Amino acid sequence: MKIFLVAGARPNFMKIAPIYKQLTKFPKDFKPIIVHTGQHYDEKMSKIFFEDLQIPKPHIYLGVGSGSHAYQTAQIMIRFEKVLLEHQPDMVMVVGDVNSTVACSLVASKIVYSDSERRRPIIAHVEAGLRSFDWNMPEETNRVLTDHLSDILFTTCSDANQNLIKEGIALQKIAFVGNVMIDSLVQFMSLAKKSNILNQLSHQFAERISHPLEEGKFALVTLHRPSNVDDPKVLGMILNAFVEISERIPIVFPMHPRTQKLTRQLPKTLLETLSNRPILITEPVGYLDFLYLEQAAKLVLTDSGGIQEETTYLNIPCLTLRPNTERPITIREGTNRLVPLEKETIVKYALDSLNEVSKSTRPIKYWDGQAAKRIVEYLRKRGKVFN
Ligand code: UD1
Ligand code: UDP
Repeated sequence: MKIFLVAGARPNFMKIAPIYKQLTKFPKDFKPIIVHTGQHYDEKMSKIFFEDLQIPKPHIYLGVGSGSHAYQTAQIMIRFEKVLLEHQPDMVMVVGDVNSTVACSLVASKIVYSDSERRRPIIAHVEAGLRSFDWNMPEETNRVLTDHLSDILFTTCSDANQNLIKEGIALQKIAFVGNVMIDSLVQFMSLAKKSNILNQLSHQFAERISHPLEEGKFALVTLHRPSNVDDPKVLGMILNAFVEISERIPIVFPMHPRTQKLTRQLPKTLLETLSNRPILITEPVGYLDFLYLEQAAKLVLTDSGGIQEETTYLNIPCLTLRPNTERPITIREGTNRLVPLEKETIVKYALDSLNEVSKSTRPIKYWDGQAAKRIVEYLRKRGKVFN
């Protein structure tokens, strides 16, 4: 089976890496080809992950870059169609919920291979069935469309299976295999613990902090959802909350490029305040450094999907600055809590959380480092059905 593994944006790389490695263990059965759409392209949003995750450079790079949803999705589709016709893979495997995911599934579902017995590739979606039920999120459109275009739906939890069944997806297409993002975490945590990032940051921001940063004595922040960062008023409100929280604990904030772009529109007074506080705003950091920061943090504040899962696995308190989540299992069984978007509430939740003893959680089923193995076992057993 020739398999295209599609990745485009930061969280996709952690998801394809364990699958790629597992597929290469069976060279007689599988030929995995990594296709990078180029949705993310800065070194710290793309290249660094191929090094940290120890996977080869993309075999095919589409170089689409940024743009509006329509422009970006259309560019991916046009460029992906060409390589699909050229290589005629047996399967297109997509992960997550970004524009690259839906664009490549849509192309794969309608392509017609002219000189092959197979009319079109099988489409497999990894991390299928997650639903926020919030159609203001572009990812919700991507999730639902991709799932309905897919022939095989690999899920991370039983909620996802329920969501798919309710939407009328045939049971035999769904396989609960677990969480491939946790596979990467399990594989790389011991290497990540060698990270020197706390020393580097302590040195870089020496004037802003009274003591060098220490494990368990800082909060980690990421933000990139359009609903939080595209409106300068909302972003300003959240950053003002961080200013108050930083009076109690230093904040490490590797900032997503989308958010960096928007901070330029903030009032000068707020930017000045931020630059005097122990709020250490950096470029995005690599995967190993980020994993280290996550497991060393006292508290994580985020709007990321993947980070809700990683903190749950690591048993680190996570406050999610969103009204909903497509990953409710991280609230039910993990360390995650949703925070209403008001300055006082964000500050209150954060300070309360600093005073609380951490909730201890039980491991979540199949978030165990073996999900990619289950995916590949499934393909080896069931692959013939599709041939
Ligand atoms: C995308 C995904 C989101 C995912 C996030 C992970 C969609 C609709 N959104 O959001 O689901 O959670 O990635 O990080 O697919 N930019 C750069 N350099 C880069 C990449 C982006 O400067 O390497 C800037 C550009 O100004 C761009 C903006 O960030 O316009 C947004 O990038 P885009 O890929 O459109 O969406 P994200 O917000 O990154
Ligand atoms: N991550 C990283 N560096 C950072 C921020 C996040 O390596 O500076 C990793 C994080 O560990 C997780 C993934 O990126 O594996 C989450 O990606 P992101 O938050 O961009 O996307 P989402 O999961 O929200 O779609």
